[in-house]
Amino acid sequence: MTPNEVIAKVKNLPAVSQAALKLVTLLERRSVCNQDIVLVLKYDNVLTAKLLRACNSPHFGFEEKISSVEQAVLILGHQQILHMVLSLAFGDAMSATLPGYAIEARELWFHSLTAAVAAEQLVKCGHPVETDLPVAFTAGLLHDLGKLALNQVIDAGAHSAIRERIIQKHLPRNAAEREVLGTDHAEVGACLLEAWNLPDEIVEAVANHHCPVTTPEPKLSAIIHVSDCLVHLIGSSLGWESYAVLADARANQALGITPVKLDGIMIEVHDSARQVERFMNLV
Ligand SMILES: [Fe+2]
Ligand SMILES: [Fe+2]
Repeated sequence: MTPNEVIAKVKNLPAVSQAALKLVTLLERRSVCNQDIVLVLKYDNVLTAKLLRACNSPHFGFEEKISSVEQAVLILGHQQILHMVLSLAFGDAMSATLPGYAIEARELWFHSLTAAVAAEQLVKCGHPVETDLPVAFTAGLLHDLGKLALNQVIDAGAHSAIRERIIQKHLPRNAAEREVLGTDHAEVGACLLEAWNLPDEIVEAVANHHCPVTTPEPKLSAIIHVSDCLVHLIGSSLGWESYAVLADARANQALGITPVKLDGIMIEVHDSARQVERFMNLV
């Protein structure tokens, strides 16, 4: 199957808020003002209502009630607004149980949010990929989105064929998917994001998160690859497939991440995972 054939076959893909997608594209530009963000969000009444409800939740503990998008953008800032909008847009769909992956409810969502936080952390540490925090966060959050679609075409036969290849041929999960299905979740996810017109940088990162581009210089896929591996290491497990993730050491080298640096980053990401758990309760 090609990724497009998978997408055509799949039912119940999340109806994604156009406003959330537009916000990602908008924040990719460096010179964006609050008013631009407000205008985009106001297109989507449901998203706006959910955003205001989340802003007024005890998680934030604001004394003053936030009653408008203008106020929310001003108080929370661009990056925090992006975190919330993407969580509200994708949280429900990505919290589903995925039997094709032996993933329990909310596991993929926790894994994705933690990878997003890890990607931000790597960018903040100044690794040599020219990218902005909103782009890194979005790519981290959506890197495994293709699993939502591919899960629907993995029947019992395909499931055991994939498992068999992992156990007997020692293939990583994505390579086993390609052998059995003709495509993998990275390719399908990238195809979806391309159809939604998300920035090329994010599409590249999702497409290559299991085979990161490191030469002639590292691309965002290298950051997302390392983030994904880190998240598996700190125990955000995704069923048995956590044992079938192959870390490409070239990504660490290209990003200048030494084992000592990696330890420091892992501690930061581990601490952030608690924050992520609290944040998840907002969705
Ligand atoms: Fe993946
Ligand atoms: Fe992942």
